[in-house]
Amino acid sequence: MNIIEASNLEYVYPDKTLGIKNFSLNIEESERVVLLGSNGCGKSTLLKLFAGLIKPMSGSIKIFEKDVIRENYLYFRKNIGFLFQNPDDFLFNPTVEDELLYTPMQLGFSEVEAKNLIAENANYFGIEKLYEKPPFRLSGGEKKRVALACVLQLNPKLLILDEPTSNIDGKTRNKIIEFLKEYKGTMILSTHEIDFVKKISNKVVLLSPDKEILKLGGIELLEDIEYLEAAEIL
Ligand SMILES: Nc1ncnc2c1ncn2[C@@H]1O[C@H](COP(=O)(O)OP(=O)(O)OP(=O)(O)O)[C@@H](O)[C@H]1O
Ligand SMILES: [Mg+2]
Repeated sequence: MNIIEASNLEYVYPDKTLGIKNFSLNIEESERVVLLGSNGCGKSTLLKLFAGLIKPMSGSIKIFEKDVIRENYLYFRKNIGFLFQNPDDFLFNPTVEDELLYTPMQLGFSEVEAKNLIAENANYFGIEKLYEKPPFRLSGGEKKRVALACVLQLNPKLLILDEPTSNIDGKTRNKIIEFLKEYKGTMILSTHEIDFVKKISNKVVLLSPDKEILKLGGIELLEDIEYLEAAEIL
């Protein structure tokens, strides 16, 4: 099954800034894709397009072979886990515990089921001591851990992570890498940390500063200095 079918995507923000152009890519089930490129090259824009959070101005995109239309939003919500680059875009509940419980409860878990689910993951990500705190009073890394726990605990079919390890300490970073190695679904992430990419991915999309694909390849692309320099990430 094709998880993402993107053809000639172009996205322009309301203030007329180009987000991405000429973007075509198919992602099949169980592929593990990493987007690499310099600041502002369109990674976050693409990830939002892949999650159906925004719609392209031109070109076409299908997610799970479905169109990005209102009738499919609930299906996308149930099956896609999305981590925003900035956790403040995501955290809005009064306490960390409410935040963790929010999506499971929305998806129909009973309170007992939801509490069991969050306890397991909260422990893994070391956030169980933060339950009572309002998310806006957490440190940057703590916010990211809470947002990650919210997304990963549901074990979605498609995991879309925008810079999952930025702002994160070494021990937690290793846990996230371990988690992603074990994860069996389809994964698309962006990062500026090339060193862990080969441990968790099998497809690399290199974006140019001009906001289009520079090169698509396997992890051997990470050794290609010429391309990494052209992408301005080396
Ligand atoms: N909300 C917005 N309104 C206007 N322009 C935006 C908005 N968000 C992003 N852009 C612009 O769109 C382009 C692509 O931005 P995007 O956030 O996708 O880059 P990125 O590759 O994720 O960068 P980074 O590595 O810094 O996270 C940039 O030129 C950026 O300035
Ligand atoms: Mg970004």
